Amino acid sequence: MELTLRIRRFNPETDTKPHWEEYTIDADPDQKLLDALLYVKDHLDGTLTLRKSCAQGICGSDAMRINGQNGLACRVLIKQVNTPVISIEPLYGLPLIKDLVVDMEPFWKWYRAIMPWLVNDEPAPEKERLQSAEQLARYDDSTKCILCAACTTSCPPFWANGNNYVGPASIVQAHRFIFDSRDRATAERLNIMGQAFGVWKCRTVYNCTEACPRGIRITEHIGEVKRAISLGMPKE
Ligand code: SF4
Ligand code: FES
Repeated sequence: MELTLRIRRFNPETDTKPHWEEYTIDADPDQKLLDALLYVKDHLDGTLTLRKSCAQGICGSDAMRINGQNGLACRVLIKQVNTPVISIEPLYGLPLIKDLVVDMEPFWKWYRAIMPWLVNDEPAPEKERLQSAEQLARYDDSTKCILCAACTTSCPPFWANGNNYVGPASIVQAHRFIFDSRDRATAERLNIMGQAFGVWKCRTVYNCTEACPRGIRITEHIGEVKRAISLGMPKE
């Protein structure tokens, strides 16, 4: 099939603002969108700049805006988009570096702020820190996050408050530890989430859940963190 990729381009060395460029290729509908982009880069315009690594939906590095919706280019098939012209833009809400590449540092800043590691200073048991299936189920969904930023960069409160809002991905990461029975920093994490830059900036727009390529129930988990702050942790 004939497919036109309409790509938002920006070269900081020559451009004052982004512009659109179009590339028409012969594409296989079963092809990944990432492969179509790489075809353009390899055969039509070597200056096209994008991030990718695994090409399997694992590393989270090729999140971008596809026909107005965030997704991973390696997880989207051309037949799923199903339009003769596909518009591709960099993620919104993060500083643009070049073409489809944004500066992820503001995203990582908020990720570091939620202490994304297990805190437990108690002496280690002889074997492992055991956990029941029910205890695991309380946070298991949050462990699926690959930190692609598709959720955070589709969130209007993050667009409006990026410097002052942790965003949904970091709340998912906080949820992953808050509800882990082995973690001992629950009060500290809930205190972080309760700050002005924390969970209350969420307006339940739901864009995050729709954007997540891992199908994580983000809005539900944000609600669980809000309830834990206002009503206390639920009993195990
Ligand atoms: S919650 Fe989903 S969309 Fe957000 S960073 Fe994690 S994997 Fe990506
Ligand atoms: S390239 Fe790794 S998730 Fe797409």
